[in-house]
Amino acid sequence: MHKKPLIILAVETSCDETATAVVEGNGSDIRVLASVVSSQVTLHAKYGGVVPNLAAREHVTNILPVITEALEKSNTNEHAIDLLAVTHGPGLIPALLVGVDTMRTFAWLWEKPLLGIHHIEGHVYANFLSPNTDVTSEKDVFPLLALVVSGGHTQLMMMPRHGSYEIIGQTQDDAVGEAFDKAARLLGLPYPGGPAIAKHAELVEISDPSIRLPRPMLHSGDLNFSFSGIKTAVLTLIEKNASRKNDASFIASVAKEFQQACVDVLIKKTLSATEAFRPKTVVLAGGVSANLELRRQLGEALENTFPFIDYRVPPLTYSVDNAAMIASAAYFRWIHASADEQTRAFNAWKTLHADANAKLEN
Ligand code: KG4
Ligand code: ZN
Repeated sequence: MHKKPLIILAVETSCDETATAVVEGNGSDIRVLASVVSSQVTLHAKYGGVVPNLAAREHVTNILPVITEALEKSNTNEHAIDLLAVTHGPGLIPALLVGVDTMRTFAWLWEKPLLGIHHIEGHVYANFLSPNTDVTSEKDVFPLLALVVSGGHTQLMMMPRHGSYEIIGQTQDDAVGEAFDKAARLLGLPYPGGPAIAKHAELVEISDPSIRLPRPMLHSGDLNFSFSGIKTAVLTLIEKNASRKNDASFIASVAKEFQQACVDVLIKKTLSATEAFRPKTVVLAGGVSANLELRRQLGEALENTFPFIDYRVPPLTYSVDNAAMIASAAYFRWIHASADEQTRAFNAWKTLHADANAKLEN
């Protein structure tokens, strides 16, 4: 592994956050020097979800100020930057284009190498940011199992080494974050639904036994998921209890049961994958990894069944979309890159394209 510190400027605009970061990688220590996230949540909340063209317009307005802010906060400038990185997909194409074309321009102007990073690769590498430094001693980490839970993805992935991914299970329909958002909407809770459901669930100490939701595909015998059925079951539950629709304790009880149903399925499948693939490390990745119950209960389940496995969660601030995670992924890609791959990065200002359906490359 290279020992010279590497300074990376990264940008993420795949959805509704305009995010930039300056990160310093030094051996196995990946320190965030600055991370700026300009959120559009209040803008999109009134539509109950992200409006792609509105998001793009906001990114155009915000991108240069947030790049400047990250450089200022980290006390760096273009001369200090060794590498540029940007999310090239998947995501909303008008939103991705803003980040990609901005970084292509800087790559050309500053004559720097540029790496296009897959959004999910970024989420996984949030687990390698300081203070999770002990994860990064390579020999102990791999093979690594990642449970990826975001607004667009729900996957179990095995990584035999850095930059290598095998999807071993995934959702057949909605992503778990999407299910949180839709269930919240049915309960009259604000967007984004995940934090709102978690907050309401916390208000209930003992679950109401009359409020039960299914655990889809719990016993399917494979590593796949399904979350669209839980959402329909929430709707049925609300219709059956029409008189309690606005009752705060009913809403909180449904929120708690919904969260637990999702957590139960995620834990069961992760334990099955751990049993089958025997990883050294299990990491949680994606926006839903901000869910404290999921973090805690998955940790307990792994500790009980596989006490020798290292379980990691991203620092809470880097669970949801941010650019530090994109820089972290770029750092590991760069230090393991061949001479050819490095040359390609120097030409990326000409060749890099946003791809709404980007696939993880191995
Ligand atoms: O990774 P992310 O920020 O964006 C995507 O890549 O999709 O994930 C956003 C998702 C949303 O669906 C949001 O409701 C969910 O993560 N989320 C949560 C929590 N915080 C965010 N879900 C459950 N509990 C939370 N505390
Ligand atoms: Zn994300």
